[in-house]
This record gives sequence, C-alpha cells and structure tokens, in this order.
Amino acid sequence: MIHFDPSTRTFNLILKTSFYAFQVDETGVVVHLAHGPRPANAPSTAQVTAKATLFMSDERVSFEHQLRRDELVTFGDTTYHEVALKVAFPSLPASIQPGEAAHLPIRDVRLRYAGHEIVTDARPGLSANKTSQVSGKTCEVCANPSERQTLRVFLRDPAQPFRAALCYRLTPEHDIIERWVELENTGEEIITVEACAFATMHLPNGANELTSVTGLWGREFTTQREAVPMGLRILESRMAQGGHESSPFFFLNRPGQAWEETGAVWFGALELSGGWRIAVEHLPSLDVRVHAGYNPFDFELALAPGQKHITPALACGVSNEGWGGASRRLHAFARERILPAAKPNAPLRPVLYNSWEATYFNLSVAGQTELARKAAAIGVELFCLDDGWFGARRNDHAGLGDWVVSRDVFPDGLAPLVAEVRKLGMKFGLWVEPEMVNPDSDLYRAHPDWILHFAGRPRTEQRNQLVLDFGRPEVVEYIFAALNKLCDEYQIDFFKWDMNRNPSEPGSVAGKAIWRKHTAGVYSVMDRLRAAHPELDIQSCSGGGGRIDLGVLQRADQVWTSDNTDALDRIRIQEGFSLAYPARAMECWVTHERNHQTHTIHTLAMRFDVAMRGALGIGSSLNALDEAELAEYASFIAFYKRIRPIVQNGELYRLQRQEEFGASIIQYVLADGSEAVYSVAVSAYLMGQHLPTPPLRGLDPAATYAACNRTGTEVYRASGYALMTLGIPWLKYVNVQDTLTLHVKKV
Ligand code: GLA
Repeated sequence: MIHFDPSTRTFNLILKTSFYAFQVDETGVVVHLAHGPRPANAPSTAQVTAKATLFMSDERVSFEHQLRRDELVTFGDTTYHEVALKVAFPSLPASIQPGEAAHLPIRDVRLRYAGHEIVTDARPGLSANKTSQVSGKTCEVCANPSERQTLRVFLRDPAQPFRAALCYRLTPEHDIIERWVELENTGEEIITVEACAFATMHLPNGANELTSVTGLWGREFTTQREAVPMGLRILESRMAQGGHESSPFFFLNRPGQAWEETGAVWFGALELSGGWRIAVEHLPSLDVRVHAGYNPFDFELALAPGQKHITPALACGVSNEGWGGASRRLHAFARERILPAAKPNAPLRPVLYNSWEATYFNLSVAGQTELARKAAAIGVELFCLDDGWFGARRNDHAGLGDWVVSRDVFPDGLAPLVAEVRKLGMKFGLWVEPEMVNPDSDLYRAHPDWILHFAGRPRTEQRNQLVLDFGRPEVVEYIFAALNKLCDEYQIDFFKWDMNRNPSEPGSVAGKAIWRKHTAGVYSVMDRLRAAHPELDIQSCSGGGGRIDLGVLQRADQVWTSDNTDALDRIRIQEGFSLAYPARAMECWVTHERNHQTHTIHTLAMRFDVAMRGALGIGSSLNALDEAELAEYASFIAFYKRIRPIVQNGELYRLQRQEEFGASIIQYVLADGSEAVYSVAVSAYLMGQHLPTPPLRGLDPAATYAACNRTGTEVYRASGYALMTLGIPWLKYVNVQDTLTLHVKKV
C-alpha cells in the first residue's frame, strides 16, 4: 500500500512486515525517513509522518548537508561522498549571471520534487515481458495475475533540461520494493550520464555487517561475512556477465543484532547480469548507505535530445527474521514474480540428464541414444545434449559460432535423436554458447570484425575463443536467427545457454556502452526466443555459476550452479546460492563416484542427498553403471519426485549452517505446514562429537508427522510440537560424509 500525506509531503510504503518512508523537504529535496520492520501489532494504516531531522552529536558541526539522506544521492550541491547519479550538462543554464565564467560541462545535478503518480504494472528496464503473442493471441507466460502498485516520484533539475523519476514497485506479500530510476533529456543537446545507480538505500547507523558471496570457477558462492570499516566496500562485476567472483546481492545488519532466524536484516539484489556495482558506504558519522546499479567503471550513457532511459531495478527489503527471513523473501519473490513461470506453485522443474561428463566431445548417435534410453529408464524427464554437436566442434578449438548440426557426428541431422528422446517420454535440450566464436569457425572467417577488439591490438583468446560484439544489432539478429532456426527445426524444449570466457579488450561499435548493450542483447535474444516458442525453457550457465542473478532469472528457468559437482563442495556452494536464489532454479547433478573435478570419492547416497536439495540432474556415465546401480539411481529419482514439490515450492530454513558443528541441516516446508523435507549433510566431524538436533520450523504443532526415508519406510514419528522443539534425533551412526534425507508429512 502506498500512502501520501500532502500536509507533510510524506510517502509511506506499507508492506506485509515492513515499511519504507520518505518525504519532500521544504526545498523540494526528497529525503529518506526510515526503512525497517513494522511493529507486529500496528494497524495497516499506521504511518510515519515526522519531519526528517539529522541528529548531530555536536551542534557546531557545519557539514550537515553532506549527511542529508537524499533518496537518490546525486553529484552536485555540497555532496562529496559516493553518489548514485552523476551527469554532465553541455549547456549553460538561463540563470547564468552576466560576466559569470562558463565552466562546461556543468557537472551538478539538483533534483527537486515535481509531483508523483501511483500506477499499476510499471516495469523497470530490461525486465522480461511476461506475455507473448502466439498466433495472434496473447499467451500469459507469467501466470501471476495480481497487479502491483508502483510509485513514481518526478524530479526536475530547476536549471537544466533534465528530469528523473524515482520508482518504487511494491510486492507487499514478500516485503520487496523494486527500485529504479527513469532519466529523461528534455533539451536539445546530448546529456552525458557519468554514473547511474538504480537506488540509494539508507540503513540505520552501524548496520555494517555485510554478507555477500565470492569465489571463482569451481568454487562459486563462497559466503563471506565482514564488518565494513569506515569507507567504501565495493561488490562489482566488470564483465558482461556477473562472473564467478560475485553475485549481485547483499545482506546488511547491525553486528550482533541479527542471526540466521532473528534480527533485522536489510537486503538487496540487482536485476542485472553484467557491469553492475554495489557500493556499501560506511561513513564516519556511522551512517550506512548502499548505492546499487551500473558499474561506472568503463561506463557510457548518453541521452540524446528527448531520450529517456529506464534502468533495471534493485529488489530490496528488510527481514525481521534474520538472514533466513531475507532469503525466504527473495526466494518467494523470485518464484512468484521473477522466474519465467513465475506464479505460486508453478510447474516443477524436470529431472535432467546431461551427457557432458559422460561423453565430453566424443559424441555419436548410438552413444547418445543409449544414454537417452538408460536415462529414461531411471526416471529422467529432460535429456540435454551438451557441447560438440555443431560445426567443426570436435574439441574446444573450433566451431563456436557455427550453429548448424555437424553431419560428421549426426549424419541424418539431430532429428533421429530428438525423435528417440521424445519417444522415450523425455524433453530434448541442447547446449549453445551464443555469445562466442572460435577463430577457427565459418562465422569468424566471414565476419572477423564482429568480435570485441581494438584495432591493431591483440585479440586475446581464452579457451580458444573470442567474444561477439553484441553492440552490433546485426550480430544480435544473427544469433537470434540461428537459435530460432534450431527451435523451428527441432522443437527444442531447453537451451543450456553457456558463456565460457570473460570479455576483454572491449572494443565495440557501442563504445563504453557495450557492457549495458551486451546484457541487453542477450536478454533480448532470450526474450524473443521465449516469445516465439512458449514451450522453450532456458538454463543460464557461464562455466558453471558465472551468470546467476535476478536479471537472467527473468528469462532462465534454472541455472547451472557450478561445474564443481563434488557433493562435499556443493554443500557450501549451494548454501551460498540459497542466500538469494530459490532451490527450484538451482541445478544440481549427481555425477561419477570419483568426481571429475576434485577426484574425490563420495557415496551415491551423499551425491543424491546433496543434489536433491535443488533441481535434480544426473551427469554420470550411465553406460558405465551395472543394473543394480541403475536401480539405485531409479530409486533415488523416484524419491526425489515425491519430495520435489516441497523442495521446489517450499520455504527454506537453514536449520544449521555448514560452518556450524560441521553439518549442514536444511528444511524445506510447504506453506501450509503439511509436508517438509529434512536434509542433513555432515562435512566435518570431531571424534566423539555430539551433533545438535535443531528444531524444525513451519509445522503444525498439534499435528502428528511421520518421517520416511527413500524407500518410504517410516523411521520416526512425532508431533509437530516435538519436532519444533526437540528436532529429529540422529537416526544412525554419524560421521563425516554421512547424509540423510527424510520426507516429513502429516499423518
Ligand atoms: C562449460 C559448462 C559445462 C559444459 C562445457 C562444454 O564448462 O559449464 O557444463 O557445458 O562448458 O564445453
């Protein structure tokens, strides 16, 4: 609910358990009031109306303007701290005094209130259009019908032909506000935007404990928690995708005042894949601010006369249930509002088989057909053919860019394999890497200029490949046409959209705007493909988890979490992923007994128990398994299908985080408390150690529950109250690498 009080010019945004308030001061500046949990017993009409005041510890301090909490901090006025918006105006204002020196461009933006509107269904930039035209009829790809309110606060620079709107779209049921800005050049000359965040967040003083993720290939989503000292802490991507080193989200809280399930935690996640920046600013006054949006590093945004730019959004909010509550809000928001199938209880993600680790580049019709038959027999629902099916791609030295089926490998094209897969009752998926070329490819030979490079400079290859210039509309069009043709020809159900190198030497026809244009180009191809082929699903992969964010998740149903499929490593990777992103999007494969990345051996039970925490996939060489092993796989997959609705649509509780007592214990529970999944994975164990039994959550205390194992055998029975106070006792001898998954249901 959005309220405006005209007497105090105060805006109150009321969400389920939180509020956000700001007001227009007497000079027209829009200043922040507060953002936090609402008192639990407050009526929904309760509003904040107080005047925004700065309480300085020392009245003699004369720098108070720098501490004013502008809703969007701009470069200009007396600001010298970090800014969200920096603009250069080419012309002199009418207010220039005779004889006054003209220092052009004018780098000073002063935005003043000029009105507001409350609308429904406004969309931030780059958001996916969730409706598509199918043979003239509008098809609701996004089935969530409820409208959302957006507040647009209009601002004008009194002396320059420049307008901005601060936008706030509310998803009250999940305490999420999407914030973005709309910029408009109303003059006759080009205005240059030098820095542009989508929002400034002001946090309570001292809320400087930051939770974020870092990592690299094979070690994505390593959780890091730190107290940000006075100064700036930057989380960023200097790439066209997010990269493995970070993911664009953050949690902040006052140190010691929040924990997994308690305390106030402020959070934000960007709806953008590449070229982003989250600046956490801890001022000596103890103020904490976050500016999140485009990365100003190598950035360009020129507004032509009359041009408007709508930025993507920062989805932000506050949880009064600790980090776990922040995660659950983001998960529910992604499930119901972000993902392509976004709606409550959306169709479940299928069990996938991917042949990459089974065959690598050794593809043959017979080999893939045999794998497909075995996959179908153990319960797989989607068969994905990975790299090597096209052009001269017999290894990673050639062929990228040539998206035509290789007759060397598939003499009769893909049709026979696709038909076989369909006959077996599975969907068919195909690996592509659309943003790349090998220099040894027909595409590169025909268009050597279509790649990012600077004239006369080296074109550095990584994994023997170069990056296409998505700043060129003809490149984006070519890629769309190539993929669209594949869909038309083979009715592809699923693309694994990969991206296996970081862009470098970013020379582009788009200049420094390439970082924005690349992401926009990728999104536009995905959106057009989905619109033309409503049944198509997409997986986002970038050498594992290099492109995972709320932007790509608007058009990718699931993501490849990491190339590292070692179950022990995965416990940690998946826990970091779970901070911001929902389990239904987290692809987790069971692979070989001796892991191909780490060469470690894990039991089949451990590999399944960890992979069943997300969207299950299989990546093992099924041809190397005997009948008994295949039967074991089938039994685990059947179990997964029973618990899948709870994993994919339930609420996640990290009952015990991986670093606590050496065991990760998580629970998924349906909103009505009728069923839950209890999943334990021990990663470290001290001889003689007694492991805790954390209480479960979200159950009905009065009901009786049975906990069943994979075979359906009831191994424990207790009341909801007992489960939510005493937990589930350890049911077997526990040691490192022991795991357990139980299906807990009301009887
Ligand atoms: C990347 C992906 C893998 C696989 C290979 C194929 O590394 O992450 O899953 O698809 O490319 O070359």
